[in-house]
Amino acid sequence: MISTPGLDALLGRHSVGPKHLVEPGPSDAQLAVMVRAALRAPDHAELVPYRFKLVRGAAKQGMAALFADAARAAGKGEEGAALDAERALRPPVSVAVVARIDPDHPQVPVPEQWAAVGGAVSNFLTAAHLLGFGGKMLSGAKARDPAIAAAFCAPGETLLGWIALGTPARRAPSGASRKPDPAAVLQDWHPPCK
Ligand SMILES: Cc1cc2nc3c(=O)[nH]c(=O)nc-3n(C[C@H](O)[C@H](O)[C@H](O)COP(=O)(O)O)c2cc1C
Repeated sequence: MISTPGLDALLGRHSVGPKHLVEPGPSDAQLAVMVRAALRAPDHAELVPYRFKLVRGAAKQGMAALFADAARAAGKGEEGAALDAERALRPPVSVAVVARIDPDHPQVPVPEQWAAVGGAVSNFLTAAHLLGFGGKMLSGAKARDPAIAAAFCAPGETLLGWIALGTPARRAPSGASRKPDPAAVLQDWHPPCK
């Protein structure tokens, strides 16, 4: 079994949902490390096709109000609206992931730009895990709600969702057992027969 401390920590990463996240959230310095990790993800032409928007402190109430309004607009009752508001209030820190995809870029097609966004999210979460924080990338219908998207995005940008961040309330299983065997996703390629 190949093992190094860094690899073991990486292979132990798993998502921690908002209901298992408690204070404290990461400090400014720790958040800056997460962003530095995000910026190390592969990124064709170094477009940095994303921005992160921190939601913490009093801003959480503002996001909760937006979530509740969106829930009502989607036909949910007051109980559903309160539940969605709670999703904004629960994590000590939420980090909105805003993608800036250029559909007309002469060199970097759209899928490659999205790949850079995904790599950034992954590195951000891995850095959070290595610093001892729990986190989970979340989206849902809320991320596509026009009023919520407009509150986070400039024209042309896309709200991917939010990374919920905080201290894990309990040691969670790594979830590695749910993952496919590497052999199922790594295959030798053979040229097509002529
Ligand atoms: C862009 C994106 C959006 C996601 N949105 C949700 C979501 O709204 N709800 C959810 O339960 N999981 C969502 N997930 C999946 C979780 O973040 C997580 O990856 C999944 O539960 C697997 O857990 P693991 O990271 O421990 O392997 C999303 C993942 C990505 C990349």
